[in-house]
Amino acid sequence: MHFQWTSLALVAAAALQATTSQALPTNMISCLQAIKGKSYLITPSSSNYTKESLTENYLFNYKPQAIFHPATNNDVSAAIKCASAANVAIAPRSGGHSFEGYSAGGQDGSLIIDLNQFNQFSIDKKTNIATIGGGNRLGPTYAKLWANGQYLIPAGTCPTVGIGGHALGGGVGMTSRKYGVLSDNIVSMTVVDPSGAIKTASATENTDLYWALRGAGGGSFGVVTEFRIQAYKPPSKVTSMTLDFPLSKYSTILDAYAAFGATASEDLMAEMNLDTSGNMQVQVVYLGSKADANKAVAPLLKATGKPKSSDIREGKWIDAAVRFAWMQNSDLANPKAGDSNYAKGRSLVYRQALNKKEKDIIYKYLTAPPKGISAAYLIVDLWGGKINRPASESAFVHHGAVIGIEFVTEWGDAGTKPGKKACGPCQTWSLNFYKEMLAAYTKGQPIQAYQNYIDKDLPNSMDAYYGKALPRLKTIKKSVDPNNVFRFPQSIPLN
Ligand SMILES: Cc1cc2nc3c(=O)[nH]c(=O)nc-3n(C[C@H](O)[C@H](O)[C@H](O)COP(=O)(O)OP(=O)(O)OC[C@H]3O[C@@H](n4cnc5c(N)ncnc54)[C@H](O)[C@@H]3O)c2cc1C
Ligand SMILES: *[C@@H]1O[C@H](CO)[C@@H](O)[C@H](O)[C@H]1NC(C)=O
Repeated sequence: MHFQWTSLALVAAAALQATTSQALPTNMISCLQAIKGKSYLITPSSSNYTKESLTENYLFNYKPQAIFHPATNNDVSAAIKCASAANVAIAPRSGGHSFEGYSAGGQDGSLIIDLNQFNQFSIDKKTNIATIGGGNRLGPTYAKLWANGQYLIPAGTCPTVGIGGHALGGGVGMTSRKYGVLSDNIVSMTVVDPSGAIKTASATENTDLYWALRGAGGGSFGVVTEFRIQAYKPPSKVTSMTLDFPLSKYSTILDAYAAFGATASEDLMAEMNLDTSGNMQVQVVYLGSKADANKAVAPLLKATGKPKSSDIREGKWIDAAVRFAWMQNSDLANPKAGDSNYAKGRSLVYRQALNKKEKDIIYKYLTAPPKGISAAYLIVDLWGGKINRPASESAFVHHGAVIGIEFVTEWGDAGTKPGKKACGPCQTWSLNFYKEMLAAYTKGQPIQAYQNYIDKDLPNSMDAYYGKALPRLKTIKKSVDPNNVFRFPQSIPLN
């Protein structure tokens, strides 16, 4: 697709006349160039523009108008005003892991506001509240929390995911059943809103934003530059396990797993991986000793039967975090995740165990993978526990779920060109699998899906992601972003 530079400039000029009387330059680029200090700007003529435009997922190769790297809240504010005056869509970027490439705009022609310079970190040892800049990634955040008093925050396993998108869309990981999802642990945020105003959102200030950002905050309501998050001290011994079962026992094991959550210890979190190699692996983190961990999984094993193999390790919390980060190195501070690849991820959230049809569809697809995949698997997270008891209401609506499933299909060798190699059979397999799962979803239950696994193929996705929160989200959107400056293909709509 060609970059329509001239026409964008004309649109910008028209939008400026129509919407503002402020003396901002009509050209967004020159407006951004006027922002001084430690910020920097990447434009299509910069030598590393292509590299800067890429997302973590090589499926996408969107062409933003520019990528701006602010250094201060005032820089963010000024950039929002520049883009807004030119009616250019704004996409904040933290870790760049959006499944649909939305931090690159999800379409051509956006302004990316990349928070890589917002990597500040501190922790208050009296309140155990961590202050975390919006550009930090999870691995480095875990490393900093550990180095500053052996703390943790409940969040995901992938070390290169950014705190920004992750915390604003929920955030589920290996201590969620003990401490809840990450968004429910946000105490307050600094947000630069769509008008460019710098605000604090908390339980007592800008409460509408505080409510909306926690769950529906990714890209729709402004740029969160800093999070204040409740941190915790894990016990001195933490146990991690992998338990391997054969896929042929899928029905018994899926039933046992879903039932287990209701009575399982909240010190235990589990995630199950089912893949096309015929394996079902249950991964467990238990906040306590190996002896106690074994007791905690005993009810599960009673229902499933003995695993064919297991690997149980007692260590510190940070050892478990490193283990389940699946890095090429083992350095959370500088994580080396797998090389960028092509992936399609989707999700469904369930309020009850899978029905027979659903289990059979999973087995059918996993035993007949398409040609060309490098990996295809399901991650089944065990929900419940503290996830169901948030301290306050927010736009995260999946409390009360039993399991959350992520469907992942990956293909393409590392190093292939972005946007070039689209394995047709892989994508068709992924979509057909998902369509069958949607059709089998228990009748009378509104479909729920996890917004951090955002997917443009999901019909009525706004309802599935936000459920009963949607009407209020639209009202807040209309009030804080009436011109819809923070827009991408699945942003919160005005109406
Ligand atoms: C390999 C991989 C592993 C994952 N593992 C887990 C997991 O274990 N648990 C889990 O819950 N999820 C997991 N996820 C999903 C992850 O939580 C989401 O993809 C999340 O949105 C990524 O955040 P990000 O900042 O890296 O992405 P980005 O692409 O930077 O952002 C995602 C969205 O949020 C917006 N956004 C980002 N930062 C801000 C900000 N500061 N202010 C306002 N809007 C912002 C972006 O515009 C975009 O729309 C995983 C994803 C991947 C690709
Ligand atoms: C692109 O260039 C800028 C300015 O020289 C630099 O600061 C930035 O790190 C580069 N980005 C990448 C992804 O290499």
